[in-house]
Formats: sequence, C-alpha cells, structure tokens
Amino acid sequence: MTYLPAASAGAGTADVWMLVRQQPTALRRCSRDLATVFAERYGRRFAVWHTDELLFGVRGGRLVLSTLGGTALPPPAVVCVRHLPGTMRDDREVTLLRHLERLGSRLVNPLDAQLTCRNKVWQLQELALAGLPVPDTLSYATAPLEGVVRSPHLPTPSVVKSVRGTKGAQVFLAPDANLLYEMAGSLAQISPFLFQEHVAHSHGRSLRVVVVDDTVVDAVVHTSPNASLAANIAKGGTATRCVGRHPQAERLALAAARVLGLDIAGVDLLFTAEGSYTICEVNAVPGWRPEATEVVAPAIASLVDDRLSATVGTASPVT
Ligand SMILES: Nc1ncnc2c1ncn2[C@@H]1O[C@H](COP(=O)(O)OP(=O)(O)O)[C@@H](O)[C@H]1O
Ligand SMILES: [Mg+2]
Repeated sequence: MTYLPAASAGAGTADVWMLVRQQPTALRRCSRDLATVFAERYGRRFAVWHTDELLFGVRGGRLVLSTLGGTALPPPAVVCVRHLPGTMRDDREVTLLRHLERLGSRLVNPLDAQLTCRNKVWQLQELALAGLPVPDTLSYATAPLEGVVRSPHLPTPSVVKSVRGTKGAQVFLAPDANLLYEMAGSLAQISPFLFQEHVAHSHGRSLRVVVVDDTVVDAVVHTSPNASLAANIAKGGTATRCVGRHPQAERLALAAARVLGLDIAGVDLLFTAEGSYTICEVNAVPGWRPEATEVVAPAIASLVDDRLSATVGTASPVT
C-alpha cells in the first residue's frame, strides 16, 4: 500500500500525521519509506501533510487548524515531523509546530528538542552541561569574524562549521588561523560559524548511531572516499553496518538522545586517539540506509503507537 497525500486521504480523519516540508520538495527516500510503513499500519488514520497546506489561528478564543480550502481539522494525536529543523523558520514552520503542540498533539520529536538540535552550539551546550564528551568548540553571537579568528582560544587546526549546516556541506578543515583570517571577509555569514578542535584520529571517519525510543536501532561507520574531512554519505562517504561493535559509543548515543529530549535521533560520534568517542552532532530528523528501513521504520511506528495510546483523547477537538 502506498501512502496518500493529505488532501486525498480524507483530510479530517487522520490522527497520525507526517509533517514534511512545503511542496514541491520531493520527500526524502527515508521519509517515503516511513510513510509507506505508516500507511500500511494506520490506513486512513494516516496522512502526509506539507507545511504549506495548513492554516491555523484563533477563532472565538479557541485555537483552530484548517486546510487552505477551509476544512476544519481536528488536531492529530501524533505528528511525526520529517521537516529538517535546520531549515525551519521561527515565524513559519516553528509557529505551526508550536500551534500543533498547543492543541495537544504529541510531536515526535517534541518541538523543544527539535529547536535545540537546530543549532549545533545549542546541542553542544546541553551535552557538555550533562557531562557528555564533546570536542572543544568556540562560537560567537555578533563578534566580527575577523576578530573571532584572532582569538587565542581558536582551536588550531580548526574544523569550521555553520551552526545550521547539514550533510557535511558547510564543514571544512582550516589548518591554521592565518588561512581563516584571510578567508574571513569572503565567508558567507547567513548563520554564525563554530570553530572546533580537529579530532584527527577520526579524520574522514564517523560513527552514526540511530536511536529510537531509547533503543539503538542502527549503527554504521561512515568513511569518506578520499582524504576529505567529512564522511557524510551526501559527500560520497560509504556506510558499513557496525551494530554492537562499539558498545561504549552506543551508550553515549543513548545518553545524548536522552539529554536532548529526542524520541528519534541520529547521533554522529568521532573516534578519539584514546580509543573512546566524542559526540560530533545530533540530528533530530535522521536518515538511514535503505537496508535499515526494515528495522528503523517499524521501530518508529512502535514509538508512534506508544505515543498514540498515551495521547488519544487528550488532543482538544476543533469546533
Ligand atoms: N571536530 C571534528 N573532527 C574531525 N572530523 C569532524 C569534526 N567535525 C565534523 N567532522 C566530520 O565532518 C562530518 C560532518 O560534520 P557534522 O558536524 O556532522 O555536520 P553535518 O551536519 O554537516 O553532518 C562528520 O560526520 C565528520 O566526518
Ligand atoms: Mg553529521
């Protein structure tokens, strides 16, 4: 069975939603696979909604939700959010998610956890406060970049990342501060950067652990195809399954997901020279390799079942 877009699924009947980015962006393969599993499990109780199909507001003092065409929608019991937090805007997607949460819908992941994960520094703040290992990192609010790269606390060599980057696209290794100083004027600064200690032992290698509901469901070592730093699949990296081979890393991934309040997490870890691990970043909307769908998708569906039984009857009806 394939899933139906919300409009044709009988908009008002679904109480399990997958919320994805506005059309016409195609669904990521993982989200498509997940939607197919949800459609088999929940039938017409399930619908995929795009953020541009929904209206919300207040009428007669009550929070309301409707389609663009004006059909009132009861708030869904559970919303599986597959919109990447990095591209959510406060006054748009975040406001919609906030509205759903205020209507009583259980978001998977909860909005607060998604917001923490949206910014790489926010997550590091929480992980470090919880005593979990993270690489030394320097960032800034409005300090001029030319000044930041002259800080005596700038790690060298430095891994430079946009605080909102994804897929290894906004990550590079700067061997020394001089190069950064020369580049500072030409770096686009839509979001701030962070400057991070280069975990040299892990150069071109990282460990991705997928956690669902406090359980490790997949683990792979990502390896970059050449000498480049980032091992992301999107940068040509390869994935080798390694579930059970790095128990300490798996325990760290579980702890990281817990600290950040994530039901679903893709935790990237780096290998240290001492034979342990440090947390690189945590993704709130992780992808997974096609072969892992048979494990990951049912685990997410069980999580949704669990949240569904906990929330049915608590979401406020729309009148
Ligand atoms: N401090 C670091 N030391 C060594 N390699 C790193 C470091 N930070 C990131 N990397 C490499 O770059 C990749 C991408 O960085 P990451 O922080 O996960 O950003 P993205 O959100 O783009 O995936 C990681 O998977 C890892 O291979
Ligand atoms: Mg990553």
